[in-house]
Formats: sequence, structure tokens, C-alpha cells
Amino acid sequence: MAHVPFSGGVHAPGRARIAARTLREDRWWLQPLVTFVCFSAWLLYGLVRASLQKDYFVADYGYLTPFASPCLSTSCVPGSTHFGTPFGEWPALIPFAALTLPFLLLFRLTCYYYRKAYYRSFWMSPPACAVPEAHVSYSGETRFPLIAQNLHRYFFYAAVVISLINTYDVLHAFRGKDGGFGLGLGTLILLANVVLLWCYTLGCHSCRNIIGGRLNHFSKHPLRYKAWGWVGKLNARHMTFAWITLGSLVVTDAYIALVSSGTIGDFRFIN
Ligand code: FES
Repeated sequence: MAHVPFSGGVHAPGRARIAARTLREDRWWLQPLVTFVCFSAWLLYGLVRASLQKDYFVADYGYLTPFASPCLSTSCVPGSTHFGTPFGEWPALIPFAALTLPFLLLFRLTCYYYRKAYYRSFWMSPPACAVPEAHVSYSGETRFPLIAQNLHRYFFYAAVVISLINTYDVLHAFRGKDGGFGLGLGTLILLANVVLLWCYTLGCHSCRNIIGGRLNHFSKHPLRYKAWGWVGKLNARHMTFAWITLGSLVVTDAYIALVSSGTIGDFRFIN
């Protein structure tokens, strides 16, 4: 098939003239396609669940889904307002977590890994190695709106605060029916989810730079050096945690929705 040439990228002067779109013969399109489908499905799920404002809290055991945390309105189910009710009646369809979800989305949207993933799968810029851009020009992240990707380091601080909120929510999940200590499958799911969220958040490239960047001598900062090493280990698995946390958030929310709606009962170990 004839290819319409343009002057940039692989068609820049001095590059070999190759008529084919790509010389790759493997299924290079599979990975971006899977990413596109998974991200779209996750966004749809999150949008629906956050907007429904239903089945987000299990009063007996203090389980609150991350999709509705923090719940700060008098419209929230009694017991779910772990940080009080500074807001009155909450408008329908606006997620209870409207104060935190935009920051979380922006944190992930500007994440170095997700950038790579959605540039390839949604924007096809480029869709894969050795497969040219679908666009006629390329300005990288030097112009608006993509220059705003540089704000990622600030969204990191917001994500730390939100992870602390999620951690506090987990403490409430160690509750039994009689109000004393309790432990159920939901507690463990919430706990695992928050541990994974911390692994993703602390493995952030900005975090790594905040912890160990701009130091001339690691030997003069042994604690920061140690912390930098730990963060580096998480950072090496950042992509893995990016995917796992998408799954753990859905599992946590879906489990709480099922228990809250009475579809299933919580499996209790204690009380
Ligand atoms: Fe992925 Fe910061 S680079 S969260």
C-alpha cells in the first residue's frame, strides 16, 4: 500500500526510504491494543462506580472503598465519614471522593510509565518500536498541553496524602460487629490494596529523585542513601505495580460492593 510521506521522523532527510509502514512482522500491535482495552475498561468501571454512590461502605466492619474515600458529606452513609462531615448535602452523580480522585487520576496520567503506555496505545506516538508515528508532527512534551506532564512531582505529594487517607481507612477495617477488634477477608483485601498502593506511589520516579536526587556524596547522607536504595527497588518494578494496583483497586471495590449490597457475606476470621 502506498504510504503518504511527511518530512519528519523516519521520513526526515537522510533516513532510508522504506515504503512499507513497518518492517516488523511480529504482532507489535497486540500490546498497545491490550493496554487500550484494559485502560478503557478500568476507566469505565471507575467512572461508573464512583458516580453510582451506592454500596461503597460496609457498616458492620468499617469497609470503605477507595473509590468513595474520603467521604466528607452528610449524604454519606453513617459511619463512613472517617474524617468528619465538613460538607453538607452532596450533589447526586458527583463522586464522594471528588476532592481526591482528580489528583489520583492526574498522578497516574502524568506517571512516567503510564505516559509510555497511553502514548503508544491511545495516541500511537509511536505505537511500538520501529513503527512510525501516526502523526505528521512531533513536539514531544515541549508544548501545551503535554508540557504539563512536568507537574507530575506535585501530584506525587497529593498521592502521598491520599495514600495516608487510604491507610487510615484500613485501620477502620479492623473492626468486628460488636465494635471491638475484628478481621475478615475484606480487611485483608483492603490491607493488601493499600500496601500495593504504597509500593506504586513510593516507586515513583519523582519520589526517587526527591529522596536521593541532587546529592553529591551519598556517603554524607547514609539514611537518604538507604531510602534511595529501597525506593530504587520499587522503582524497578514500577510498571508491575502500576498494573497490579489497577487490579487491586477493582478487586477491593468490587468485594466491598458485593458485601455491602448483601450479595455475599464477608468471610470472618475474628468476630
Ligand atoms: Fe509513575 Fe511517578 S513515575 S507514579
